Amino acid sequence: MSPLDPIRSTIRDLRTYAGQTVEIAGWLYDKRSSGKIRFLVVRDGSGLLQAVLVKSMLDEPTFTRFDEVTQESAIRVWGEVREEARAPGGVEMTVQGFEIVHRAEPYPITPKEHGIDFLMDHRHLWLRSRRQQAILRVRNEIVRAAEDFLQADGYLRVDAPILTPSAVEGTSTLFETDYFDRKAYLTQSGQLYAEAAAMAFGRVYCYGPTFRAEKSKTRRHLTEFWMLEPEAAPMELPGYLDLAERLVEAIVQRVIDRRAAELEVLERDVSKLAPVRAPFPRMTYDEAIKYLNENGKPVAWGDDFGGDEETVLSARFDRPVFVTHYPTVCKAFYMQPDPNRPEVVLGADLLAPEGYGEMIGGGQRIHDLALLEQRLREHNLPREPYEWYLDLRRYGSVPHAGFGIGIERTVAWICGLDHVRETIPFPRLLNRLYP
Ligand code: 4AD
Ligand code: MG
Repeated sequence: MSPLDPIRSTIRDLRTYAGQTVEIAGWLYDKRSSGKIRFLVVRDGSGLLQAVLVKSMLDEPTFTRFDEVTQESAIRVWGEVREEARAPGGVEMTVQGFEIVHRAEPYPITPKEHGIDFLMDHRHLWLRSRRQQAILRVRNEIVRAAEDFLQADGYLRVDAPILTPSAVEGTSTLFETDYFDRKAYLTQSGQLYAEAAAMAFGRVYCYGPTFRAEKSKTRRHLTEFWMLEPEAAPMELPGYLDLAERLVEAIVQRVIDRRAAELEVLERDVSKLAPVRAPFPRMTYDEAIKYLNENGKPVAWGDDFGGDEETVLSARFDRPVFVTHYPTVCKAFYMQPDPNRPEVVLGADLLAPEGYGEMIGGGQRIHDLALLEQRLREHNLPREPYEWYLDLRRYGSVPHAGFGIGIERTVAWICGLDHVRETIPFPRLLNRLYP
């Protein structure tokens, strides 16, 4: 029997109840025994608690229940909270009683090593592990830090639709779906809608899932990923670079500040994150090409960079680096060509350090109606679904800019993971749609 009127707490808040009898509802993470003492390691999502069973202090049924309780059983445990400097949350519990709410079947994920496919097939359970929890808490912090930063800077969140009539980032990676008697596409980016919102509100951002039918099986590509996309009008290329570097600095410094425990679980070398302060280094695409050609990674002018080139370029710096003025042929239809040199655009990618590759893409948008119409034609895009987008160039058009930060690549970099599949609760990859 639990105490008649127990204090109920989460493990995270237990410290405030030292000396009192408290009840925790959670799951059995692990158990151990040593002589006449038994240990239940309980998790409740907020933390881990070591609950100690001493034989001489408990009745026989309670003590033997220890043998019945299985890994990941749902349990309720109550007892006195004691300060214990060596324990994870600074406290332990001396158990007065515990109950098995649901006895778990033999749990498939055990402390032994499992292959990645097995873990991915059990992603719905794998999320309970310490490491996965640390990653998702960092992800949560990144998104909150980004939104807080933008909101403080006067950016309004205006969400974009997911079902759309048109492509943003080229037609080769569109997911098509039936929309009654028409075709619709899952959005590749909320940008075009963010542009409309920027003309209404000045400073906006959208945040949501975006989709790319990526045939590539790399450690940086998902078919469904989350993007946060700020857009401002008026704004030009330098305004974008300034905003993006301040945003990334704010994200990284806040994670260092508030998620030190999680970074430690992940064994992240924080000295690699600490230097991430604005301003970030910048180089033009031409300078990047020259550097690559001099350093054993020859690239022809006009070719886009792949992961290998990005790794070589970013290895020179202790913080992210912008590559600006890419060839117009590499980039999407909406990118503003440099008026002094139309073969390159007023756009930039931000490459993360340590080989994590492109984490942000963006730039200045074409604001001239005739030029945008011409670019649509050159990209063989139908005009009709973009008619509303062209309208933005008819009514008070102004140079404007924005960018998209890929949340999963940002999480992978900040957590130091070798693949984006662990950065999102339920990853969607070329060959993974389950669970
Ligand atoms: O460079 P991208 O394609 O840019 C856009 O979509 C723009 N419309 C954004 C804008 O200007 N508002 O994608 C932006 C970022 C990339 O830098 C990368 O971080 C991420 O989105 N990204 C992906 N992340 C995971 N899996 C994929 N398949 C990704 N494709 C892009
Ligand atoms: Mg890009």
